[in-house]
Amino acid sequence: MIEIGSERIQVFDTTLRDGEQAAGNRLTPRQKLEIAHQLNTLNVDVIEAGFPASSPGDLEAVKLIARKIRGPVITGLARAVEKDIDQLWEAVCKAEQNRIHIVLGSSDKHISGKFSSSREAVLQRGVDAVRYAKKLTDQVEYSTEDASRSDFDYLCRVVEEVIKAGATVVNIPDTVGWAVPEEFGPLIHRIKERVPLTDKVILSVHCHNDLGFATSNTMAAIKNGAQQVEVTINGIGERAGNASLEEVVMLLDRRGDYYKRGTNIDISEILTTSKMVSEMMALPVQANKAIVGKNAFAHSSGIHQDGILKETGTYEIIPPKLLGLDKHQIILTARSGKHALKHTYNELGIQLNDRELKQLYPHFLNFADSHKNISHSDLKKLYKSAVDR
Ligand code: KIV
Ligand code: ZN
Repeated sequence: MIEIGSERIQVFDTTLRDGEQAAGNRLTPRQKLEIAHQLNTLNVDVIEAGFPASSPGDLEAVKLIARKIRGPVITGLARAVEKDIDQLWEAVCKAEQNRIHIVLGSSDKHISGKFSSSREAVLQRGVDAVRYAKKLTDQVEYSTEDASRSDFDYLCRVVEEVIKAGATVVNIPDTVGWAVPEEFGPLIHRIKERVPLTDKVILSVHCHNDLGFATSNTMAAIKNGAQQVEVTINGIGERAGNASLEEVVMLLDRRGDYYKRGTNIDISEILTTSKMVSEMMALPVQANKAIVGKNAFAHSSGIHQDGILKETGTYEIIPPKLLGLDKHQIILTARSGKHALKHTYNELGIQLNDRELKQLYPHFLNFADSHKNISHSDLKKLYKSAVDR
């Protein structure tokens, strides 16, 4: 269901299309279907299931997902050529809700460099493609590829003409991660101002992470009126990847005071989805990755551990329970203090009194200085050897 002017941000998940473009990747149609089921449980609004014209396997995968998944809109990518649009339609026509997503460059680098064409000819090609798609289905999305490096007046003409031709979603991609938030946010604002017809469609953004700004640019766009975000699980995607679903969703959830927008995502499913995508695509998640990294809820320095044990809000802005985790982790290291040590022994069922703690602590530090990981059995041995009972 397309909601225009809604407070709710539509989450368009492209893990199975742009995410699968991450170097060295290939999923079978069955694997794609399994991930699509999990994306459905996560409650995304749109699943971009693949690029059917790219290979027979991808055509089959998108078809399978369109037949089996009920709930989200199912789409796939097509270039602005009838053959691609036909193949995409063949793949998604059985979906409960389908969408045709067309991409065509709007920057001069694409128009002359890639297509050896002219602005007018490319504009006409885009309009013709939308008209063609519109005869097949209602929901047509048009992506102005490389929008952030396109001439502003020309970009606005394209946006206006494709809406007149029937596009219901217009996507403004920062295809190569070139934009910075202070210009990408205003770009969305200026497009809305210059093309009043954008009020009649969903304005979407799709940001890449080449310079590390994918999430920031997406958030700046939301602040300036974008209603759909194109994101991937774990931020995977072409080159340095895309804006990550979990970061955008958690920013909206945690900083609702600032963004005043939300999503329909079931946050308690984020970690399961992240793990599934990482394992199936053999793409490990970096330990310090926001939200889903192994260290995202691990506190290891004494100052932080002391603070968090006294009042969780000191160093914890996301309650771990929101994500289905029991609680934060206290990791004992040579930077840990007595408070964390006592707490950990307590959890092991060993209540240290002040004398025992004082006696044990220097032994613990010596041990921690030469060991990366300290296990519960290490702690029990240390207790037996260092404390006079
Ligand atoms: O990065 C890009 O511009 C794309 C389009 C297909 C939206 O992936
Ligand atoms: Zn992309």
